[in-house]
Amino acid sequence: MLQGDQVVEEFDQDDLDDDESFFQDIDMLQSQGINAADLKKLKQAGICTVKGVQMTTRKRLCTIKGISEAKMEKIKEACAKLEEGGFCTALEFADKRKAVFKLSTGSSELDKLVGGGIESMSITEVFGEFRSGKTQLSHTLCVSTQMPGSNGYAGGKVIFLDTENTFRPDRLRDIADRFGLDQSAVLDNVLYARAYTSEHQFELLDFVAAKFHEEPGVFKLLVVDSIMALFRVDFSGRGELADRQQKLAQMLSRLQKISEEFNVAVFITNQMTADPGATMSFQADPKKPVGGHILAHASTTRIALRKGRGELRIAKIYDSPNMPENEATFAITAGGIADGKE
Ligand code: GTP
Ligand code: MG
Repeated sequence: MLQGDQVVEEFDQDDLDDDESFFQDIDMLQSQGINAADLKKLKQAGICTVKGVQMTTRKRLCTIKGISEAKMEKIKEACAKLEEGGFCTALEFADKRKAVFKLSTGSSELDKLVGGGIESMSITEVFGEFRSGKTQLSHTLCVSTQMPGSNGYAGGKVIFLDTENTFRPDRLRDIADRFGLDQSAVLDNVLYARAYTSEHQFELLDFVAAKFHEEPGVFKLLVVDSIMALFRVDFSGRGELADRQQKLAQMLSRLQKISEEFNVAVFITNQMTADPGATMSFQADPKKPVGGHILAHASTTRIALRKGRGELRIAKIYDSPNMPENEATFAITAGGIADGKE
């Protein structure tokens, strides 16, 4: 399904008319009497759409330079007017959900496991021990996202946030070859940033939101590889755990909002830890993802990876309330993630 000789060009906004109704640019608030200078201040703080304002608390809006409490109330009111209170019928909601798309992982077995692919408007987390394929899967998604698919999916650009310095553009070249895509075009459609601290990682999300807003409907995927690495360095010991979890919660909440605001898929990788308590109690699965309940609740879909023979890897849905606990086998190949031959 994914093979093809298409050459990926720069994605053009004009091809993406459908997305227009999806984005209510913050400039629309001018019709409600909010002046352009104030709207610019919001944009500089990474708030670029009407939805973005509604996703931001009054408290945080007031921390933006030049936004007084009175102004903030006026802005909130203007948004409420445009959104008619935020209610819609289930039928209308179903219509909005039609915009949700799925991205292929490169392995049809793995796609099947997660219900057809990595879904937009939600966070998908993959975790597993070292060399289990998390980074390779992230790289493959950077390319597969650019493939036009069924349901009118046009293919799109990607932002990759790298916290471990393991992003390799040359891997994208190999994967592009496998999908029959032009190497340079593929690389040109992936925006890359390296995060050095957990704070930096959070700040970069303002840039991400601004970029998604600048080219509405063009970006389809945000990768964070890995979500926890910097948090584990920046916060150490029990004493800082509560602080870490609070910051992590803010980060994940922002990611969730970005995925909904701009209709993109958010794909995060996570490390795992051997739980010393679990070994003591002879639990069957002593290894679990780090990040605790905060991460568990933030991720819509959690996939556990483990190593199989040679290039083979086994994926399993972890902790899902509505998906069967099936497994899928895939392979790490020169061309990225693919179906495993057993
Ligand atoms: P950590 O980040 O260390 O926790 O691991 P990870 O889960 O991100 O592992 P990663 O995705 O980096 O997977 C590494 C595995 O991919 C290793 O077993 C490599 O041998 C394999 N791999 C990397 N590049 C290639 C390649 O070009 N061809 C093949 N066949 N395998 C590759
Ligand atoms: Mg990795």
